[in-house]
Parts: sequence; C-alpha cells; structure tokens
Amino acid sequence: MKILGIESSCDETAAAVVEDGFKVLSNEVVSQIDEHKLYGGVVPEIASRRHCESIAGVTEAALKKAGLTLDEIDAVAVTYAPGLIGALLVGVNFAKGLSLAKNIPLIPVHHIRGHIAGNYISNGIKPPFICMIMSGGHSHIVEVKSYTEFKVIGRTRDDAVGEAYDKAARALGFSYPGGVQMDKAAALGNPEAFKLPRPRVESNEFDFSFSGLKTAVLNLINNSAQKGIKLNKNDVAASFQKTVCDIIAERLILAAKKYGYKTIVLAGGVSANSGIRKRMSEECEKNNFKLFMPEIKYCGDNAAMIASQAYFEFKDSKVAGMDLNALASLPIDEEMF
Ligand code: KG4
Ligand code: ZN
Repeated sequence: MKILGIESSCDETAAAVVEDGFKVLSNEVVSQIDEHKLYGGVVPEIASRRHCESIAGVTEAALKKAGLTLDEIDAVAVTYAPGLIGALLVGVNFAKGLSLAKNIPLIPVHHIRGHIAGNYISNGIKPPFICMIMSGGHSHIVEVKSYTEFKVIGRTRDDAVGEAYDKAARALGFSYPGGVQMDKAAALGNPEAFKLPRPRVESNEFDFSFSGLKTAVLNLINNSAQKGIKLNKNDVAASFQKTVCDIIAERLILAAKKYGYKTIVLAGGVSANSGIRKRMSEECEKNNFKLFMPEIKYCGDNAAMIASQAYFEFKDSKVAGMDLNALASLPIDEEMF
C-alpha cells in the first residue's frame, strides 16, 4: 500500500510516499526557518501563507522522486493535530482535495504518533517499547503498546525541552531555532562550569519541568551582564546540555525499569541532539536496554513519518471523512476516530 503523507503542523511543508509503513519512496521537506529567523520564532500567520505556497510543489516533488503519479497512490495521510491551527488547516484541506479528487482514503495522523514512527522507517522496529518524545512543543514519556495504542506516563508541566533549548539559545545570542547551535557550542564547552537546577515534579516522578532550567540560564546571563562579567557561551551551553541529559536519562531509565520495558526509543526534533544520543547510548549499554533513535533526517518534522504511521492507523480502520477538522491540541492517547 503506497501512502502519500502531508505534514504542515509548524514551519516545514512536507510530503512523502511510504510503502507499507516501512519503505520510504520519497521524503521532501520545504523549510521556512530562514524567514521565521528574522522574528526570533515561528510567526503563525507567515507559516500558514508559506504552506499554501509550497504544498502543491512539495507534493509534486515527492511523487516525482517516488517515480509515481497520483493515480498510483492508494491513500493520502495528513497531520491533523496537534500544531498551529492555521498551518494544520492548509495540509488538512489539501489532503481532503486529493482524497476527493482521486477517490482514495483520507487518513488522519497525530503528529506525535508520527514522530514515533520515524523509528519504524529508520530502524524497522515494532512495539511494544517505551519512548521519549522530545520536540519544540512536546516532552512526553510514552508507553507504545502497539502501533496505535499509547499511554502517557510522563509529560512536561511547562516548557517543552526544545522550547527551553531555543529560549536559552536566544538569550545567548544564537538565532532561531537555537537547539542545533546550542548542541554545537556544548561540544566546545565545559559541562561542569555552571551548576543548574534539575526540577522535580512532586506528584509524578516521570513528569518534567524545563522552565526552571531555562529561567536559571536566563538569570545567569542577566546577572553576569549586570556585573560586567563576560560569560563563555560554550560553557553555558555545555552545562545546560549536561543538565538536560541528566534529567532525561534519569527519568527515562527509571520509567523503563518501573514499567518493565527492555527497549527504549527516542523521537522528535531534540532526539537529534548529539549529547542526548551519546548519553542515552551509554546509559542503555550500562543498564542493558536496547536503544533506538531515528536517523537525523527523521528526527525533525517530515512527512515520511506521517505516511508511515498512517499505514498502521489505516489497518486499525482509522479513516476520516470530508468533515475532518484540524486540532491545535490533542493528547496522543485520545481516540478521535
Ligand atoms: O520535532 P520538531 O522538528 O518540531 C516540533 O514538533 O516541535 O522539533 C523542533 C525542535 C526545536 O526546538 C529545535 O531547536 C530542536 O528541535 N532541535 C534540537 C536539535 N535539533 C533540533 N535541539 C537540541 N539539539 C539539536 N541538535
Ligand atoms: Zn514535530
């Protein structure tokens, strides 16, 4: 079954063709980052407009790369939640048009479920496993019981880890999105230079709070500026990254042990982080867990992960009608269809 996937939930317009959930035939992404950089973050109105401009072209490119015409596509899949509502609506309406015109099923896909599926196309793995999804908008520890059954066991109470990265990066003078630049700077700095907080959430040992860590970095920068002390950016980035690694590694290993999983999986934009990848590899080896991480091209937003997840949603009878709507927020474990 060849599925055309469409993704437009944030600042990448993407289309891809994936066969039977695992085989990527094409994966095209048009990024808007250069334009949003000018404003220090994603401007929703601009994102929607750029999606409108790019979506037809990126879909044509994905079909061409796959060596297929629309007539050879068996179903169209689209990210319908969560994300920027105006951005999501572009993809949803475009996908509806294709579904109607070609009389093929329309498969709605949850963005975060898609991020997890980045591991099916990268590593060919099968559930069950425990997964940490870390992106610009989400930080969740999830039990992936089957391709379409999920249970959230930990989540952030405030900022997502990617958001904390981007805000700390901005305060250090890096351009948006600063996560990658923080990662590069961290490799050059001393991770022990600054002691930063590792906040715990009393009511749930697997929940996160990254806003305290972000605020501690902002305070460090402001206090130093007031005293006329010049901070070494690499040392700040390295200390921040080490703290994030400590928090994630500790909670994820503990959750895997408590819930009885032997396989740990990472997903989402921040799973491209070299410090987190290295640290989790070490921790999993030490504790005898199998670790899987998406290839870097499937960490950030893309449509191949959406087309992959769609295959399993379809097998589970999840097909939408022309009344499909986009949703700005929707828990990963909530059934909509
Ligand atoms: O999954 P994603 O592409 O979009 C969302 O669904 O949010 O994640 C984007 C986030 C941004 O916050 C970006 O700074 C972060 O992933 N990111 C990184 C790295 N690469 C991307 N953060 C830390 N280190 C990286 N290497
Ligand atoms: Zn994403």
